[in-house]
Amino acid sequence: MPLRFPGSGRTARDAVHHPLFARRYARFSTVAETRLGLAGVRERLLAELTGRVIEIGAGNGLNFAHYPGTVAEVVAIEPERLLRHRAREAALRAEVPVDVVPGCAEALPVKSEAFDAAVLSLVLCSVRDVPRALAEVRRVLRPGGEVRFFEHGAGGGPAMRLAQRLLDRTVWPALNGGCHLSRDPVAALCDAGFELGCCRPVRIPASGPVLPHSYCSLGSARRPAPAPDEPPGAR
Ligand SMILES: C[S@@+](CC[C@H](N)C(=O)[O-])C[C@H]1O[C@@H](n2cnc3c(N)ncnc32)[C@H](O)[C@@H]1O
Repeated sequence: MPLRFPGSGRTARDAVHHPLFARRYARFSTVAETRLGLAGVRERLLAELTGRVIEIGAGNGLNFAHYPGTVAEVVAIEPERLLRHRAREAALRAEVPVDVVPGCAEALPVKSEAFDAAVLSLVLCSVRDVPRALAEVRRVLRPGGEVRFFEHGAGGGPAMRLAQRLLDRTVWPALNGGCHLSRDPVAALCDAGFELGCCRPVRIPASGPVLPHSYCSLGSARRPAPAPDEPPGAR
């Protein structure tokens, strides 16, 4: 069960507040589902998931339609008010039970080891503190639990990487809800102690111009399970 704040529906102080970005994302992300092929990526991201799932930074809930029937319940954390509202609408149309909850990745409002899987899609670029967010994901996953991720990050040749870093230090985060282009989400998952499973590069859009946010990774990782002779909570 998510731990709710009093006066549910809002975080105590709305940890993330990007109303202009939220409106723009809600509009363009739905178009990108078909035009940029994101619906197909979401389908692959979530295929064969089972049990209780936590989705971090669910946005307007575009993943919800792609959860397979083997998922028992999704707790979807979304700090931005407008996107959370849209996510709640999407949850009503979903085929699996989805509970949309306010909160942010750096302090997930749920109990430890309560989930079989966690979903990170296009969110590590935006969280303020990636190591802290991933430590939280690790806390709420059961040992052996899986992370499914679809994230964009640093990529391309030296000129593109320089452009990504320059944009990160100037206009990009302010214009895009705190998004950063030059992070390395796969390295961050490894640094946080997850065991990397399959991971493949995905370019978005698959054809046409390469953009600073085209370099994506789609894959899975696991919270290590303790060895049989290890005490509980050792990993
Ligand atoms: C680019 S959108 C992606 C939304 C969704 N995951 C998707 O795949 O379409 C980034 C999302 O991260 C959320 N976000 C930003 N900072 C966050 C944080 N600290 N904790 C959790 N979510 C955050 C934003 O509110 C937004 O919904």
